[in-house]
Amino acid sequence: MSRLKAHRHWTRFRSVNGIRYLTLAGLCLAATVLFRFDLDSTVVQAQATLKGDPEQGKTKAALCAACHGVAGVSINPLWPSLAGQQELYLVKQIKAFRDGEREEITMQPFVQNLSDQDVADLAAFYAGLSPCP
Ligand code: HEC
Repeated sequence: MSRLKAHRHWTRFRSVNGIRYLTLAGLCLAATVLFRFDLDSTVVQAQATLKGDPEQGKTKAALCAACHGVAGVSINPLWPSLAGQQELYLVKQIKAFRDGEREEITMQPFVQNLSDQDVADLAAFYAGLSPCP
């Protein structure tokens, strides 16, 4: 009798936990799919906009070098190094300065007249530099 009870209990335990695990696995799968989708669409969006040319970027970075360093490594503690930074992040930040969403009076004059292609080229140039020259 008690063995039967124990068996029933085990079966119930197994099925309840089975459902829990299945639900959990389902949620994980959904999260992964959603995350991948989000990541893909961001990358696709960025690619769809503009492709940067690092050679062009190098020429356009002549003025930036005064503060950010010729090789993208700054020597002033208040000026960030840009070498090896993520390309998408650079695009986002340069545009933010240009469009007045991020404010810095020393930066603004140098980026305010950049086109989207200039920004893409500059970002490609800095992203391709080594952070440790
Ligand atoms: C007069 C100095 C100066 C010049 C020239 C200059 N910058 Fe900057 N830049 C700065 C300073 C200072 C900051 C940090 C701003 C802050 O504290 O928010 C900065 C920040 C940045 C950032 C953000 C970095 C980060 O980690 O968020 C990027 C990108 C950038 N500059 C790109 C450029 C580009 C591209 C040019 C040339 C077109 C340029 N800068 C010219 C001084 C300069």
